[in-house]
Amino acid sequence: MNLARPISGFTAEQLIEQLAHVRDQLRALIDCLPDDGWLGLRAEHLNPPLWEIGHIVWFQERWCLRQKPDGTCAPSLLPGADELYNSSTVPHDSRWTLPLLAPAALDDYAASVFAAIERRLRSDFTDELAYFAELCLLHELMHIEAWWMAFQNLGYAPPFTPTLPGNLPVQPTQLAFAAGAVTLGSGPDAGFIFDNEKWRHTTALPAFDIDAHSVSEAVFAAFVDAGGYQRSAGWSQAGWAWREASRISHPLYWRKEKGIWQGRRFADWLPLDPAMPMRHVNRYEAEACAAWLGRRLPSAGEWLHATQHPDCRWGMNWEWMRDPFAPYPGFSADPYHDYSEPWFHTHGELRGGGPVTDALLKRRGFRNFYLPHRRDPFAGFRTASAIQP
Ligand SMILES: [Fe+2]
Repeated sequence: MNLARPISGFTAEQLIEQLAHVRDQLRALIDCLPDDGWLGLRAEHLNPPLWEIGHIVWFQERWCLRQKPDGTCAPSLLPGADELYNSSTVPHDSRWTLPLLAPAALDDYAASVFAAIERRLRSDFTDELAYFAELCLLHELMHIEAWWMAFQNLGYAPPFTPTLPGNLPVQPTQLAFAAGAVTLGSGPDAGFIFDNEKWRHTTALPAFDIDAHSVSEAVFAAFVDAGGYQRSAGWSQAGWAWREASRISHPLYWRKEKGIWQGRRFADWLPLDPAMPMRHVNRYEAEACAAWLGRRLPSAGEWLHATQHPDCRWGMNWEWMRDPFAPYPGFSADPYHDYSEPWFHTHGELRGGGPVTDALLKRRGFRNFYLPHRRDPFAGFRTASAIQP
């Protein structure tokens, strides 16, 4: 096992099959775009779909076909591709106005890249290529989740309604843990892992209790109705500054009709489901609600420790941690340098995975990250508290 390039051990045929399957998922979303959806709304939290598809294909070509053993990069099949689709160098604001490939030409580029990767996986299969193919597979799955977020954000009807697991008890149940130690990070035995998970290390964990499940829509509605957005108590300084600047008084995708809260699920407004995990809150809203409950967000160590308990439920939403997203000791970036490193310390960490997260990304060790003001991810939270000795 190559310690620098942990892989899941998929065969070439398994990787080809999964890459094709993921492309079918993307295609199903593309087919549901409205007529004016190729460029879509210009916003900080969105990418134009026409750019994003090109970027996904460019990323595959970059790492599976163009990467040379000495670390340099061969030319693209598409002249000028780097100037259009390299997310590290193409400013976000410019992505709506670039001379992007038209949909038919984009299909040709995607088909050529896919065929070349298929040939290479069959003829030149190495651990290194398996690593980059798996990186591209997960990269495409992350962009597909971003598409689901955009569909929810823009009120587009999706290709199918994802299962939104609920059935949370009205009264939160908690699990208590004695002081001990927790292992953070992942090892080469964990299959494919990202650089931000390296490596496994143990730290002390004081005694704590933690919710056995995410905070529900019912609990969050009680916070809103108790004036949670009207008082600064419980909000962090940055959180209250965000609330003041944004003039927000309730969660995204909520509205009150005849005194009753409703939530929008993609294109449809529905009554809240009190037993559903709260989703689409940012870290500031999560922190404030947790403080109103007399508690706080859990650390990643507490969450990891708790999720090994058989009564702990997770995977219904991304969950905000109290930790900032930060490197583990001895961090060094993997070949795709910009996956983690540019986002350390400014972003918040999330764990778990939600209703539109692929199973390959729903690992306890997977560290997701977003800016703390982002409300469009399928993200909620659970609460924790220290137990005094
Ligand atoms: Fe990307």
